[in-house]
Amino acid sequence: MAVNWSLPFEEVIYPESDRIIDPKEYSKLHDLSVKNYRKFWEGIAKEIDWYEPWKKVLDDSNPPFYKWFAGGKLNACYLCVDRHANSWRKNKVALIWEGEPYADGGPVETRKLTFGDLYGEVNRVAYMLKNVYKLGRGDVIGIYLPMVTELPIIMLAAARIGVVFTVIFSGFGADAITERLNDSRAKLVITADGAWRAGKIIPLKGIMDKALAKATTVRDVLVVKRLDGKIGMTRKRDSWYHEILAKVPANARIEPERMRSEDPLYILYTSGTTGKPKGQVHDTGGYMTILHATMNWVFDIRPEDTYWCSADIGWVTGHSYIVFGPLMEGATGIMYEGSPIFPGPDRWASIIERYGVNVFYTSPTAIRGWMKFGDEHVKKHNTDSIRLMHSVGEPINPEAFRWFHGVVGKNKITFGSTWWMTETGGILISHLPGKALVPMKPGTNGLPIMGIDADILDEDGKSQKAGERGFLVIKNPWPGLSLTIHNNPERFKEVYFSKFPGCYYAGDYAVRDKDGYFWILGRSDEVIKVAGHRLGTYELESAIVQHSCVSEAAVVGVADEVKGEVPVAFIILKVGKKPSDSLRKEINSLIRENIGPIASLKDIYFVTRLPKTRSAKIMRRVIRAVVSGVPIGDITSLEDEASINEVKAAYLEFRGELSLKTAQQS
Ligand code: WTA
Repeated sequence: MAVNWSLPFEEVIYPESDRIIDPKEYSKLHDLSVKNYRKFWEGIAKEIDWYEPWKKVLDDSNPPFYKWFAGGKLNACYLCVDRHANSWRKNKVALIWEGEPYADGGPVETRKLTFGDLYGEVNRVAYMLKNVYKLGRGDVIGIYLPMVTELPIIMLAAARIGVVFTVIFSGFGADAITERLNDSRAKLVITADGAWRAGKIIPLKGIMDKALAKATTVRDVLVVKRLDGKIGMTRKRDSWYHEILAKVPANARIEPERMRSEDPLYILYTSGTTGKPKGQVHDTGGYMTILHATMNWVFDIRPEDTYWCSADIGWVTGHSYIVFGPLMEGATGIMYEGSPIFPGPDRWASIIERYGVNVFYTSPTAIRGWMKFGDEHVKKHNTDSIRLMHSVGEPINPEAFRWFHGVVGKNKITFGSTWWMTETGGILISHLPGKALVPMKPGTNGLPIMGIDADILDEDGKSQKAGERGFLVIKNPWPGLSLTIHNNPERFKEVYFSKFPGCYYAGDYAVRDKDGYFWILGRSDEVIKVAGHRLGTYELESAIVQHSCVSEAAVVGVADEVKGEVPVAFIILKVGKKPSDSLRKEINSLIRENIGPIASLKDIYFVTRLPKTRSAKIMRRVIRAVVSGVPIGDITSLEDEASINEVKAAYLEFRGELSLKTAQQS
């Protein structure tokens, strides 16, 4: 069925670039790159430094567990640090850090690290991990830090000695942390006494202490002092990071380990349709190769650029495009702590002006957040330095695209929406301003990058025509694809490679227009994207049912003007328990403490039954349809039709209450 998606398929914008190429021409080049994708990616891998060349470009003897550049040896830290510290870039600034400004307008703390500085610091931390904590190849450490320079330094130091790290987003709550530490079998955890966020203090060490109460493998805890250091320390287990580091000789040097291409660099947990978060294991050689390619093609990174990715390093975007990608390319990157709207909604515009940002990577939620405050706070600052910009994490609505392109980019910048996932390692669908740039369209993701054979299939695996919605798949392996799910290779096969045999199934709906542009429409499974952050409805439901009054819960995502999507819950209480606002509050604090504030429920509806299939599976699709007011569709497998009416009634009743309250308040 052809669908009119009311997307601006025909609205074409030509950026100022001498690399503009017609989509048909692009497709021809792209076809060539895909036809012989092994040779193609081999050519890219040759552009980075290896200690030893690979024996095989792609070992696909055990699909879908692919080994890229098998037999090759390299070190990710060497690529990001040593190579530059030993070159003309030694005194070039690698990282500019800006802390959260004080509410009273006091001086903003900043730090600049050259590649030479980074080399010194990374070596000392590697020395500490190796010689004080006796960590080496294959050991795992957990990192729960805010956006401070110690975070990338520790990641690089771990990579230097083959220690696998798992970064836990500093917005996560205790249960989410415990789960990750236990599954990864982390021996050491590095955290901070606290962090600043929008003028408030986040007590990271306190949250970590709660998480550690149930952790089974952690022996040691290192605490970075970001605040006043007034926290409880557990004897024998906890030490101050700066005190231990002070004992390391100033000129300590640790040789980078010669890692095999397929050796894991890190594990990053991400949410899926069902079950606990899955630890995606990223390799070294393939991962660094896709980052090298995309830093150049997608970001067109140049030696004189100031580059800023406003993500948090706790998510994959920060791993790939704050730490490893830009540093490998020797770029000068900005890292900031805080919030886009604190102390005022012009914080980001002010950063762009003060540092002269040329290349900017952010999220649709951030853009919509700016839009909400009007143009004035952007216009107060000079944003002319921006040449190129991309967004990531969720579909960008055409209005937000047009606003940013016009108000911040003065209608001259190149602007795209890069599609990728934690699992993919790097960007796979995007405009390529650094290589061959097809004209832009507000809201599209552009075309698959070179070497990536993407397609859109229907339920039966048939390729969809232009204008027909289907499931996004990638038909060939690529460097950067996750090696496996930690501790659960079967799951890796099942989740990504079983729906369409031989293809990577992304879990996203997509549609293509007649020029071949991809438009990613959103998740086709039970994953929701709240402000671009990936959350599984199952995890939220598991947290809710921990409340002693709750019997069952179903969480769905509903559209939100700024955050894209927000979670709402439909809850069945235990017999004898009564719905109340205080119960709503208790349930929400449970979510905040266990998963984190990002997962806060927008609304909670109490019902006595939920729409389920005859095999007792909750039909979230039906609930979502009721809440979004769209047709409910096929309900032949529904067990109890009356449950739909109940969900509807609970929803309308609560909405009614809400509008009454709002009327009273105003
Ligand atoms: C969504 C983030 C539309 C998508 C790097 C994907 C996007 C999920 C885009 C992965 C985009 C990411 N346009 N949707 N430009 N980028 N997504 O693992 O649903 O946090 O499956 O990785 O984000 O989220 P993850």
